[in-house]
Amino acid sequence: MERLLTGLQPSGRLTIGNYCGGISQIVRYQEEYDTFLFVPDMHAITVPQDPEALHRNIREAVGMYIACGVNPELENMHIYIQSENLYHANLSWILECHSAFGELTRMHQFKMKSANKEGFSAGLVTYPVLMASDILLYDAKYVPTGIDQKQHVELARDLAIRFNNRYGKEYFTIPEPLIPQIGAKIRDLVNPENKMSKSSENPKASVFLMDTEKEIRQKIMSAKTDNDGFVAFDEVNKPGVSNLLTIYSVFSGLSIEETTKKFESGRYAELKRGTADLLVEKLMSFQDKFRSIMDSGIVDDVLDRGREYSNRIAALKYEAVRKAVGFGRG
Ligand code: TYM
Repeated sequence: MERLLTGLQPSGRLTIGNYCGGISQIVRYQEEYDTFLFVPDMHAITVPQDPEALHRNIREAVGMYIACGVNPELENMHIYIQSENLYHANLSWILECHSAFGELTRMHQFKMKSANKEGFSAGLVTYPVLMASDILLYDAKYVPTGIDQKQHVELARDLAIRFNNRYGKEYFTIPEPLIPQIGAKIRDLVNPENKMSKSSENPKASVFLMDTEKEIRQKIMSAKTDNDGFVAFDEVNKPGVSNLLTIYSVFSGLSIEETTKKFESGRYAELKRGTADLLVEKLMSFQDKFRSIMDSGIVDDVLDRGREYSNRIAALKYEAVRKAVGFGRG
């Protein structure tokens, strides 16, 4: 089985964007690939975190993956916490020494997150190298993500190629981003030119997986559309309407064509109502499952198994890399 790997930061507030770009793809591919799904808690502290909240969010992130359909009972499913495997940080240091400072400061996400800010952490600059380590440690071939992480996966490719060339052997598998055709960039409901983000300042901009029915309906019914008055899929000229069609399509499993057909004879209000109804149905079901998973104690069992397995695989890779660069006594 080829390997597939991804992670979602434990912010405590996963959005439907995170579901579309990350979780839903794991669910789609979980029977086909040896799957490494981890909680990147080390990435989370690039910005300040409350330690108690972080502990809680890590557990809850895993509960939410499972509630959304990730099957922890599959033999090829490995769910673990990044910080419970010390090889991630060790490999990251080695790869940092093979990265150019300039290539890291040119990354889109770094530029966006550091713009007009003073005193941001050095971790914000080196973050994509840690992400490369997450991927390369396990020889992951495919990395499902939304479009916003594509550049980071490309850096992981570049570093793998650079390292292999420099040390003259295929130490690392060259990973590929797996970007979904539909749902790679769920848009902000208030400013549909932007992507939907956990950290948006406007509370109406994002639907969170833990939102109440009332919140979901209010946010979707007030989503920005346009004044054209007709439903069509056109991301450039009709980003708001296209976003609603996309959300409906991902959560219903219908294609964009089928979704457009379903709503094209009606008004925007019908598209919004249909999307809100579907989201309420799906998210309420995730939330019910989430609550029973969190009560069951299964999360710790899954994470114990994942820690053991991920450390075993990562140790082998790290040992080869350590020797390649000349660490220790050989
Ligand atoms: P994070 O936690 O910001 O996002 C988790 C996943 O959700 C996707 N995503 C979206 N997809 C569609 N529309 C959106 N509006 C949207 N917003 C977020 C992201 O693309 C991602 O797939 N650095 C990563 C976490 C990470 C990682 C890794 C991922 C750390 N190491 C190794 C893959 C492999 C991050 O911050 O994602």
